[in-house]
Amino acid sequence: MSDSSRDTAEGAGWGAAELGTYKRLMPHKVEKISWLDPRMLWAARNGVLASWFGDPTGRTRSRWVAQRTAAGAPADKVIRRDDPDRFSFLVIGDTGEGDDPQYAVVPGLLKTGQDTRFAVIASDVIYPVGSADDYGTKFFRPYQDYQAPIYAIPGNHDWYEDLGAFMRVFCDDAPPLPREPAPRPPSRAWLRSLLWHRPRKGDGQRLAEHGKLRSADVQRAVQPGPYWAIDAGPVRIVGIDTGLLGTLDAEQGAWLREVSKDPRPKILITGSPLYVDGEHHPCAIEGGGTVDEIVRDPAHRYVAAIGGDIHNYQRYPVQVHGRTIQYVVAGGGGAFMHATHTIPRVDIANVTEKEFRCYPLRGDSLAFYSTLYGRRLRLRRFFTLTEAEASAVVAERLGIPLTRAQQTTARLTWRTRLVAGLLGAGRRPDRTARFRLPVRKIYTQLFSPSSATYSPPFFKCFLRLDVTPETVRLRCYAATGSRAQEVDPPVEDEVTIPLN
Ligand SMILES: [Fe+2]
Repeated sequence: MSDSSRDTAEGAGWGAAELGTYKRLMPHKVEKISWLDPRMLWAARNGVLASWFGDPTGRTRSRWVAQRTAAGAPADKVIRRDDPDRFSFLVIGDTGEGDDPQYAVVPGLLKTGQDTRFAVIASDVIYPVGSADDYGTKFFRPYQDYQAPIYAIPGNHDWYEDLGAFMRVFCDDAPPLPREPAPRPPSRAWLRSLLWHRPRKGDGQRLAEHGKLRSADVQRAVQPGPYWAIDAGPVRIVGIDTGLLGTLDAEQGAWLREVSKDPRPKILITGSPLYVDGEHHPCAIEGGGTVDEIVRDPAHRYVAAIGGDIHNYQRYPVQVHGRTIQYVVAGGGGAFMHATHTIPRVDIANVTEKEFRCYPLRGDSLAFYSTLYGRRLRLRRFFTLTEAEASAVVAERLGIPLTRAQQTTARLTWRTRLVAGLLGAGRRPDRTARFRLPVRKIYTQLFSPSSATYSPPFFKCFLRLDVTPETVRLRCYAATGSRAQEVDPPVEDEVTIPLN
């Protein structure tokens, strides 16, 4: 097996000699997503509107589900597959930007996933607003050679046009919902519906043509709605839809409680990770309770909860009533990387730095962002930190040992420390008391990842899970955009979870 980023700097993709073959898979012309473009920000306004004027997602979701049930989808929303007792599947999070980082994941994924029975996309299938027109370059084309079904749960971006395109692609060509009568003025709902972003007229006219790229029988996947459960071999995989604002409607909450009673061991897939960036986000259910309460109930037998939304990999093995539940963030499947170096020293629910895992390593994340800011601000000599400098300063700020096995401590200068401070190393992302440059979610809103910034390593990743009646082995594989990691994707993290 090849070196990972935990072994060597080369294993992380630094100083790679040869670019990966993924470029060949890409379309000639990709419209870059620019989060600085006012038109883009305006198109993605529904999340803000939902938080100001009330979130209509629950009602819309319920209408979608009713439509699917009327069309013959199973009422319990369980996909019953005929997988053997031992099988494997993939999980990819936050895929759909359609750019180099997304395509760079594909060669390694095809290789590692050759014998897998299916894949699950964990939220944000399509950026920026989930349009049907974008499915060609951001879904069908990249995964055309993956010879198995792909199921998905939507993320907030898929909801920005009321989930219409997602439902067409994943739910048997579901027709659009009939427009409801406009709310009566003056009311919050009326104001919201006035300002609401809706799909472009004629969106998705070429969807059927694009869909031919993944139309083989073995690739066919029909799911009963935006949320579902998959019975596969000895496990039940439960996928929930946390909509625009990262919450669950009451109807879905009742369904989750019901499907969780099944005696099989379970894995949750969600668009809102329950532990992330050193914090606990239990995910509220409308009308009371949380998703995490359901996950923790020993009767429900959840062994892992995997969430997208944050574009990197993190794992928190949390002790609950004498069992360990693996809480995983797995949003590194394609979209632009979110920093890990802003994660403070982990100490939550008895998970410390000793047990916590992340990819990219914090030092690599800081080196990545320092290079990026150096380029964008044309201050390369000031900003750019080598991976050795970045790792050393992270270790100092967090009071942790160097993570990479083969690493020597770089001498720390005032410049290294200043850059680390400006880029928020080892600080909680929401703590804004002191000045720092945006590197986490806000990054995508302020900076546009232009082509100049698209050079490896990208620090992308995907998961492979191997299921047996006794265990689930979860591995996080890296994709850097370099040839070396394409040919032999390194395992960045591995854990074997007992099922009994
Ligand atoms: Fe995302």
